[in-house]
Amino acid sequence: MTQNAFKRHLITAALPYANGPVHIGHLAGCYLPADIYVRYLRSKGEDVVFICGSDEHGVPITIKAKQEGKQPQDVVDHYHRIMQEAFKEFGISFNHYSRTSSKIHHQTAADFFKTLHDQNGFQVQETEQYFDTEAQQFLADRYITGTCPKCMQDGAYGDQCERCGTSLNPTDLIQPRSKLSGNTPVLKKTKNWFLPLDRLQPKIKAYIESHAEWKTNVFGQCKSWLDQEGGLQPRAMTRDLDWGVKVPTEDAAGKVLYVWFDAPIGYISATKEYLPDTWQQYWKQNDTRLIHFIGKDNIVFHCIIFPAMLMEHGGFILPDAVPANEFLNLEGEKISTSRNWAVWLHEYLNDFPNQQDVLRYVLCANAPETKDNDFTWHDFQARNNNELVAILGNFINRTLVLTEKYFQNTVPACGIITEKETALEANIRATPKAVSKALDQFKFREALTEVMNLARAGNKYLADTEPWKAISHNADYVATILNYALQLAAHVCILMEPFLPFTSKRLQHMLQLKATHWNTLDVFIRLEPGHRLEKSELLFSKLDDITIAHQISKLKPSEPVNTTQLAPLNATCTFEDFQKADIRIATILHAERVPKTEKLLKLILDTGIDERTVVSGIAADYKPEQIIGTQVCIVANLAPRKIKGIESKGMILMAEQPDGKLLFVRPDAIHSVNGAKVK
Ligand code: 2FM
Ligand code: ZN
Repeated sequence: MTQNAFKRHLITAALPYANGPVHIGHLAGCYLPADIYVRYLRSKGEDVVFICGSDEHGVPITIKAKQEGKQPQDVVDHYHRIMQEAFKEFGISFNHYSRTSSKIHHQTAADFFKTLHDQNGFQVQETEQYFDTEAQQFLADRYITGTCPKCMQDGAYGDQCERCGTSLNPTDLIQPRSKLSGNTPVLKKTKNWFLPLDRLQPKIKAYIESHAEWKTNVFGQCKSWLDQEGGLQPRAMTRDLDWGVKVPTEDAAGKVLYVWFDAPIGYISATKEYLPDTWQQYWKQNDTRLIHFIGKDNIVFHCIIFPAMLMEHGGFILPDAVPANEFLNLEGEKISTSRNWAVWLHEYLNDFPNQQDVLRYVLCANAPETKDNDFTWHDFQARNNNELVAILGNFINRTLVLTEKYFQNTVPACGIITEKETALEANIRATPKAVSKALDQFKFREALTEVMNLARAGNKYLADTEPWKAISHNADYVATILNYALQLAAHVCILMEPFLPFTSKRLQHMLQLKATHWNTLDVFIRLEPGHRLEKSELLFSKLDDITIAHQISKLKPSEPVNTTQLAPLNATCTFEDFQKADIRIATILHAERVPKTEKLLKLILDTGIDERTVVSGIAADYKPEQIIGTQVCIVANLAPRKIKGIESKGMILMAEQPDGKLLFVRPDAIHSVNGAKVK
């Protein structure tokens, strides 16, 4: 079926585990692209339902509960609320955000299982599974760890090696260990319900091969699953655990559904909850397009296992597209919740209030669409300052300020029209088609670039026509220029809505633009002559080095500390001894390597009292460009010393980590006064 033949769209974004807050990797992976796509469809007037919810079962939840000494239900209640709030704050416009601990979900998932069971859709098999004799528990999925048989990395889980991505069974692990007790587990017989993927392989293969248009990373991963030696293998859909949806058959005490069986059914139960009367239209009618937005680690579950479940159950449509993104790294390292190596959305909002669109912009412009990508705070700053402020914000601001100045905030009627305007109009008319084409192919970066190129063209138009000069001798043409610039601004306002919804809304208000529907974009004149505009305000503001340095300094992975690695305490010093050292807050104004040395940086510091040079042995830990603008503590009354021929006046306080890494000791506030005394 071609895209246009569908009457309605059901868009889902992967249900996040309710075991931690949301970070930028989640947003970039699937929630932001899904939201952009949904906003685009809505803007075209399509019938669309956008579904998500918290994934509240599975070992990630019970492990978190154990770590926090809480009940799993308390853990999921806590994080469900935090996650729902974060998505809302960032404008992720779900029609419905549900949760898998809900009654309707338990019932829907149990019914689904029962139907398959009654149709002989499972192979019930007794197999030997690892068992922890101390914890008296079978070790499913992430309860067991060991060496990956494929890449030989230690720390692989019982269901997957995160390093090489291989999907595993606990019995594949070399030197398995229980995550509960650390002990080597024993094998014990248990009965489970297996989905016979081997028997279903021909059907699944035909389905996948009918979607050769899928993104290369998705189609490629599916093909390699199908082409693996021995083909697809039966997969257990039940677990010997007590947290989850109870297996609804008589002989299954102490067993729950595998989390990857129940979670995708969560899309169905959430739709039911949202549309109790009409949900079936979205799941059972062939003219509905079902699209799953996910991260790459979820591909097999959405492209093979869930479709297999739907086919076997019967009566449901199958996913028509599964646009999976690759992973986003942070400052060159894998984002990790457990190591606290992440930018958390709730923290971002505290530090950058009302700047959700800046993060949305950066994450889309740098989205890991075809390969893993890196988020860095310097790139964030550069994209904000050089793109949002200098291109988009600058164009809008110049247009509105000039209209206010020359035409009392009223859209002027065009005077003479030159080739420049004809070319600009052609560009404005062509852009929506280019943006749509990219979005229809899930190429979000390209689509955003097209929108920004239009703003760029607006800036160039103003630079070429120079209305601020022309006003003195050709006011008639200035009316034309600002009329065209305003039409362009209105088009940008509509086109940017899926990407930057908060900014689009503000601009819509300033322009007093009524409709922002894409299906009216072939209308060129969006603002009639005589139309009154609202007062303008800046859409974006520059981010300074100090703000960025502060964010970088907040990135501290939390590793368990072994106290025996800490330096022993010095001998007691008196209060008077301590008071001799005059410690002050200072800002690093300049930093450079000291030539022919490995460790030394020459720093120029503003101490509030003076500007001075300090030579510091921190080159192994900080690059000069990373630390300019950072506030530090210095011993300001230390006797000057010559180091490599440079007079160094003072010493910066550093916290030496057990591994020898040096970290700045900084004031807690973003801006302390330079020269403030540390006591
Ligand atoms: O990887 C994850 O975070 C899973 N909780 C995704 C589940 S998606 C769906 F199947 F619900
Ligand atoms: Zn591996």
